[in-house]
Amino acid sequence: MAELAREFEALEREAVDRFGAVRDVAELEQMRVRYLGRRGRIPGLLGQMRDVSPQDRPAVGRAANHAKRTVQEAFEAARRRLSRKDSEAAATGLDVTLPGRRRRLGHAHPITQIMDESVAIFRRLGFVVADGPDIETEYYNFDALNTPSDHPSRDIQDTFYLPDGRLLRTQTSPVQVRVMERQAPPVRIVCPGRCFRRDTPDATHSMNFHQIEGLYVNRRVSLADLKADLTLFAKELLGPDVRVRFRPHFFPFTEPSIEYDFSCIMCGGTGCRVCKNSGWLEISGAGMVDPAVFEAVGYDPEQWTGYAFGMGLERIAMIRFAVDDIRLLYENDVRFLHQF
Ligand code: DAH
Repeated sequence: MAELAREFEALEREAVDRFGAVRDVAELEQMRVRYLGRRGRIPGLLGQMRDVSPQDRPAVGRAANHAKRTVQEAFEAARRRLSRKDSEAAATGLDVTLPGRRRRLGHAHPITQIMDESVAIFRRLGFVVADGPDIETEYYNFDALNTPSDHPSRDIQDTFYLPDGRLLRTQTSPVQVRVMERQAPPVRIVCPGRCFRRDTPDATHSMNFHQIEGLYVNRRVSLADLKADLTLFAKELLGPDVRVRFRPHFFPFTEPSIEYDFSCIMCGGTGCRVCKNSGWLEISGAGMVDPAVFEAVGYDPEQWTGYAFGMGLERIAMIRFAVDDIRLLYENDVRFLHQF
């Protein structure tokens, strides 16, 4: 029965040849079934071992084991070769049979999202968007806003000056003046935009930041209008349970002036880490337009009244997205930005 041993050797050579020549996964599978499958040729020959005489058995057994192992190895080798070829093809982008790769879609930056949403809310209240330059004159940024050059409030709004005396605006408030100069009342505008201050960057300060300014001028405008509109804005942006609180403050271009807070959306006002246990989040400043500002733009302060407000968009983005360091918004790390 040494014949069976030779059959094993012949089958082994044939199978190794065929696996060596396999070109794709489908052919590999075909060959695997043909030689190694349950009804394949190797198991077929092994079945014949039953009839081998005891004295031939060791020699045939050796040939059988050798064939089985070698063919199995040839199969594995072919499989490795094909998968290497696959990944090489993918790396060079040559395998046209691979499924397409979905391109990751970008989205608006968190600050832009807040800006767009804020504008949309105010538009529903009848506000239109107004725009002014990032590079301002001292007049629009300060003097026309009732802030003469010796005014102490200029100190906290130090900024970057150009050689010609113009400056990077410290607030969006100058747009109020530009609009009122061009247009007769009534006025109802919001001005989102970039602002700059000579601040040292830390978790809550950035030399470059964004505000949205609001101005409403009409007959008999009052602080009640301001509070109603800011409350509606807060509820639309942060949820129906948000409350708004006014605190007395000072700004040169409003009289009276206030600062306003939103109740903390993290704890609902009971006090937590985010609101430093106060239950309130400080948003920004507002007030009734100072008669001196109306005079600077040629409006009659006896006839016209108005409210104005300005808020930091970073501050709102940080509250809304629970971000605790303003610098994260400026690092352009897509792993961070992708979350929002
Ligand atoms: N411009 C102020 C600031 O940057 C914020 C502000 C306060 C804007 C009162 C206003 C206002 O329009 O009426 O701190």
